[in-house]
Amino acid sequence: MNLLKRAFCPVACLILAGACLPVQAKEKVKNESFKPQQEWLDTDGNPINAHGGGLLYHNGTYYWYGEYKVGETILPSWATWECYRTDVTGVGCYSSKDLLNWKFEGVCLKAVKDDPNHDLHPSKVLERPKVVYNKKTKKFVMWAHVESADYAKAAAGVAVSDSPTGPFEYLGSFRPNDAMSRDQTVFVDDDGKAYQFASSEHNQTMYINELTDDYLKPTGRYVRRFIDKAREAPAVFKHEGKYYMLSSGCTGWDPNQAELAVADSIWGEWTVLGNPCTGPDADKTFYGQSTYVVPVAGKEDAFIACFDMWKKKDLANSRYIWLPVIFGQDGKVTIPWHAEWNLGIFEKK
Ligand code: GAL
Repeated sequence: MNLLKRAFCPVACLILAGACLPVQAKEKVKNESFKPQQEWLDTDGNPINAHGGGLLYHNGTYYWYGEYKVGETILPSWATWECYRTDVTGVGCYSSKDLLNWKFEGVCLKAVKDDPNHDLHPSKVLERPKVVYNKKTKKFVMWAHVESADYAKAAAGVAVSDSPTGPFEYLGSFRPNDAMSRDQTVFVDDDGKAYQFASSEHNQTMYINELTDDYLKPTGRYVRRFIDKAREAPAVFKHEGKYYMLSSGCTGWDPNQAELAVADSIWGEWTVLGNPCTGPDADKTFYGQSTYVVPVAGKEDAFIACFDMWKKKDLANSRYIWLPVIFGQDGKVTIPWHAEWNLGIFEKK
């Protein structure tokens, strides 16, 4: 009895003390460095949920848009390949001043639950959203890969908003230049012209589609590049007048070797430079897949390569790998592995 009392007392005291404590607000998270592959929390302490994403820098703030994945990962019973998906919930939007600490701004393009034929119905697939700002129309324009659950639709969906945080109004989908459009990105050149890069022709060939001045449609001018090279996950950036395209191979959710290509004109010819990744598991892109390359505002020669680290059987818990793009003295462009790093890496020695 005595023994029991002794054991019970401290436990009871703890419980009572706990009950009397005021409910504490979740502590604000402050990230000090990039930690690729590790869980990355937003300012509310929740894991960042913006997969296959893209970034936009606007009026001193970065915005990160990505697939907002919640719930279980589904492999349909009829699947003959690993077309794991989560229900469409929409596109998540985060904002940040320093690229490290991200505030959740909400789901800026929402799923449409009451119309089973709608592109944004939960039963469909919504991937790789990218948002650009149109200086002429003052609109924020989102392009995304919209799919049927069996990946047969292969179309691009477009949405617009007056604000970077949405809400975005969905305008509809189509196949740009009548060609399939799956993994995709949008790049705005210095002259304000925008281009959509899309894996097409059953993911075998990359299309570079010029967009109309309002960025809402293709102009009809396009080229086929990387013909039969099966490149996916394109991420395009410009450095010292040259265009670069970082991409992955085509192995579904499984990692493969990245490739960097360079061109003097966006239309090409594109020259393949090879795998820019260096360090452990560089031949598997550190278990990531490219999604975007973001220029760091106000810093010269400073770009961050953003990759998704997919968990194909639990897509909602996929992580991120952000690493610096290094322009070497020898003209070589590399993406070296760092388990932990910060923007100081770009300071000139
Ligand atoms: C990948 C692609 C992803 C997703 C996946 C589906 O190759 O990059 O965005 O579409 O296939 O299996």
